[in-house]
Amino acid sequence: MESLPPSKNIPLAAQLIREGKLVAFPTETVYGLGANALDPYAVAKIFEAKERPSFDPLIVHIADLADVERLTSVRDERIQLLAAEFWPGPLTMVLPKSKVVPDIVTSGLPTVGIRMPNHPMALDLIRQAQRPIAAPSANKFGRVSPTQALHVTKNLPAVDLVLDGGPTTVGIESTIIRMHEDGFEILRHGAVTRKDLERIVPHHASERQAGIVAPGMLKSHYSPNKPLHIFHPSVVEKIKKEKTGLLAFSENETTGFKKVIQLTSDQNLKEYAVNLFAAIHKMEANDEIETILVEPVPEEGIGIAIMDRVRKAAYEHQVP
Ligand code: TXA
Ligand code: MG
Repeated sequence: MESLPPSKNIPLAAQLIREGKLVAFPTETVYGLGANALDPYAVAKIFEAKERPSFDPLIVHIADLADVERLTSVRDERIQLLAAEFWPGPLTMVLPKSKVVPDIVTSGLPTVGIRMPNHPMALDLIRQAQRPIAAPSANKFGRVSPTQALHVTKNLPAVDLVLDGGPTTVGIESTIIRMHEDGFEILRHGAVTRKDLERIVPHHASERQAGIVAPGMLKSHYSPNKPLHIFHPSVVEKIKKEKTGLLAFSENETTGFKKVIQLTSDQNLKEYAVNLFAAIHKMEANDEIETILVEPVPEEGIGIAIMDRVRKAAYEHQVP
């Protein structure tokens, strides 16, 4: 099936959502593959298009705080505090769900992940559709998330419409937290850091319960279509530099590679995060490149989330 070229037609996109169709849309983190969250048949199409296993729940995107009350079954003042500080923005809260949320959205879990994205096009779409929108990242399951509209059209041709809002401004997926009586637990690291959160609610690192809580935490995820390794001198010895693309953080050791993409000009971690996935997409598309090397970053601030994604992208292809 041929997809339409990326569009900026929000009223049409909203109409498609109301009709139970699939619309990919920009958020500040990555592009999402959206459907009416209250329509189980529409949501089923997301799983089909992504080839996503049904045990992996979706995040519900809202544009108005009042929707939290409709979608959840708790009243917790910490939700208001966190929302006031971080929404719209890259924070997903996992909360006990109400009956309004179809089971397919949450993969049968009693909780639902909710976030208000910080992107005018996303917020407009949700408001005009007058429905909360369930949306995972708009990539095939386990692959690299899209940060540009063209990444979506290339990899998910079955989407009914792709809204083009330009490149995303955060570049990696939202921080996911789950609330406990005595604090919160981070299920996936993102641009909102533990320190940011602790300014608003006290943290108690409770033991994570057994089983898949957030499949984004599966060890291998975000896999590119060719081997990706974390840069280390011992790895460089084993690869063919002339067939390798380097994603660089510093300006050291960049000679001899087929292609070098400098992810940041001044070792700025936010800039590195913004550019990381697009650079991986570029290296994937370059036929002259067989191997991707990624220079690691310090694990502080958003660097924790960056290295989480890089390790997952590298997992399947570790040098023995
Ligand atoms: O930034 C983002 O979060 C992007 C944009 C589009 O909003 N979305 C995104 O969705 O990254 P996805 O589906 O690729 O990753 C969402 C993660 C999954 O790993 C899923 O397991 C977890 O959120 N999740 C969703 N609902 C959950 C729940 N009720 N309990 C635990 N984990 C949940
Ligand atoms: Mg994803």
